[in-house]
Amino acid sequence: AVIMEDLAGSLQKLGLDKVPAEPNTYPAHNPFDLFRSHITELLSQASGIERKIIYPTLQKTIKAEFGDLQLAVQALRQKRKDMAEFAKELGGKFPESPLVEKPTVNGTFLSFFYKPQPLTKLVLPNILKAGPSYGFSAAQHLGLKDPADPSQGRKKIIVEFSSPNIAKPFHAGHLRSTIIGGFLANLYDGAGWDVVRMNYLGDWGKQYGVLAVGFDLYGSEEELIKNPIGHLYDVYVKISKKAAEEADVVKAAKEGIAKAEGDASELEAKIKEIEEKGVDQQARQYFVKMCEGEEKALGIWKRFRDLSIEKYKKTYARLNIHYDDYSGESQVKDEKMDEAAQVMKEKGVSEESEGATIVDLTKYSKKLGKAIVKKKDGTSLYLTRDIGEAKQRMEKYNFDKMIYVVASQQDLHLAQLFKIEEAMGWKDISSKCQHINFGMVLGMSTRKGTAKFLDDILAEVAEKMHDVMKSNENKYAQIEDPVKTADTLGISAVMVQDMKGKRINNYTFDMDRMCSFEGDTGPYLQYAHARLCSIRRKVIAAHPDIESLDLSTVADFTLLKEPQATVLVRELASWPDVLLNTIRSQEPSTVLTYLFKMSHALSASYDHLQIVGSEREVLLARLALYTAARQVLNNAMRLLGLNPVERM
Ligand code: ARG
Repeated sequence: AVIMEDLAGSLQKLGLDKVPAEPNTYPAHNPFDLFRSHITELLSQASGIERKIIYPTLQKTIKAEFGDLQLAVQALRQKRKDMAEFAKELGGKFPESPLVEKPTVNGTFLSFFYKPQPLTKLVLPNILKAGPSYGFSAAQHLGLKDPADPSQGRKKIIVEFSSPNIAKPFHAGHLRSTIIGGFLANLYDGAGWDVVRMNYLGDWGKQYGVLAVGFDLYGSEEELIKNPIGHLYDVYVKISKKAAEEADVVKAAKEGIAKAEGDASELEAKIKEIEEKGVDQQARQYFVKMCEGEEKALGIWKRFRDLSIEKYKKTYARLNIHYDDYSGESQVKDEKMDEAAQVMKEKGVSEESEGATIVDLTKYSKKLGKAIVKKKDGTSLYLTRDIGEAKQRMEKYNFDKMIYVVASQQDLHLAQLFKIEEAMGWKDISSKCQHINFGMVLGMSTRKGTAKFLDDILAEVAEKMHDVMKSNENKYAQIEDPVKTADTLGISAVMVQDMKGKRINNYTFDMDRMCSFEGDTGPYLQYAHARLCSIRRKVIAAHPDIESLDLSTVADFTLLKEPQATVLVRELASWPDVLLNTIRSQEPSTVLTYLFKMSHALSASYDHLQIVGSEREVLLARLALYTAARQVLNNAMRLLGLNPVERM
């Protein structure tokens, strides 16, 4: 409300007696909404064309020379023979305005340029006042159940992401799911949704019986406490090896029996021994006990799970990620799966085939194939558990939307899942679910070749980043806590590399490239942010009284005359629109493309908009511009899950 009053006041000074606002626009929060509404109003008055037809035709341009907004006159759907003529006519009729220049006409296009002074005067105070909510406040309505009636509350979304498997390596697919999922959760949060961040652990199946048997043989309490994830993995590798050896022995013995002419009883005894007491059999029995809910068996397994989660939490915290719900395959109740099996049977979705239960999805699409939902021995499968889990989640959260952030290798799995739910008549669930997929990471080998877990990956990148930092001795000496900074920069390096391309594209894990301060990298963005922080620190060190000033009111924005300032302000003004586009694209690259463009405009301005040596009024105006730029950079970086540094 404060911002709206300020806006009305500023517009009045410019000679506009009311805030232009087309339906469903948020001019107090989104400068582009303000300008689009204003142009719409003037053009409608001049031409008689309805405003609701004009508004959506005003499009952001790709190149600055086409203006801030462009309109293709064909899109106005008027019956005119000569469209170029029509464009000229409209351009001529467009009146003088305090906010925009008269449009330039290019063939059938009208280009509108915002007037730099009013733009600067309107946008910068707006950003400074809105602070961390700049951009997001223009998107809040999207998460409302009923935008016309906020008291109806917000829509709920479950974002399921990361979902690693206990006692198995945290591979590139989990890394990408973590990064992209974290971003999507922030995005929906920023758009006003009620977000449940969920981690669906791979924590169930016979392999957890194998793990328990292995722990008996090779486990160490001490190691388990120290490094649960790594230790359980080591145990799993050892016991799997033993199981494989046993299988070899059985195979050899069987061949031996086939060849042997005389007495084979010794070999038979060997086979019997392994089949009765070997790892595989023990693990099977153990898993049966887990399934039956036997306390001791479940207790050990639960301990592994709890310790792993505790450790995961610490690592996720380094990435600014916190979960609301650690679910997992183990958490899917038998009753839910039975309920689903019942529905599938009744609706004729499933059928018996060679003792197993399958769903033939080829009748919907060849590509979907046939899916097994129950094995011969009656045990559940990954897919079955996902069906039961979806229902459980609906009962627990009553979600309006659910996103699964999983590698494109599982496209078929999720397509089968959604199709089965639909066929079962669970449309309330299937229609709300979406698979957000992504491509592979190529060549993810690190120097030591040992990085199997998220922690190892982050440690190696931090080390590399530390080396890069050391190469500039002078700067390095000034950094307070270089190890911590290297860690933060390393994480940014990994995350930005992951998010800067379209999700579906594969990319190559390139440590040198991602850790560079040049080019479109995480460290480059961090540097841009740190530099802006340092500018402010220096100004305040020289003029301590400035610290407490409210720049949004004291700065004289008319002093920002340089074209570099205008270019930068235009970029800053477009952030709310970029955010809206991101919600549509669900692509982190939408944000990163913007951020790189914006920070290039920023670095191009330093030489022309110096602070040191400027007289006080100019200094204040430029500081206001840089403060606003830092705010936008910070808002966008946080949305991506980056932790903007103040020094580096
Ligand atoms: N744990 C699985 C894996 O590592 C990913 C789980 C994806 N989510 C799901 N609901 N199926 O492959």
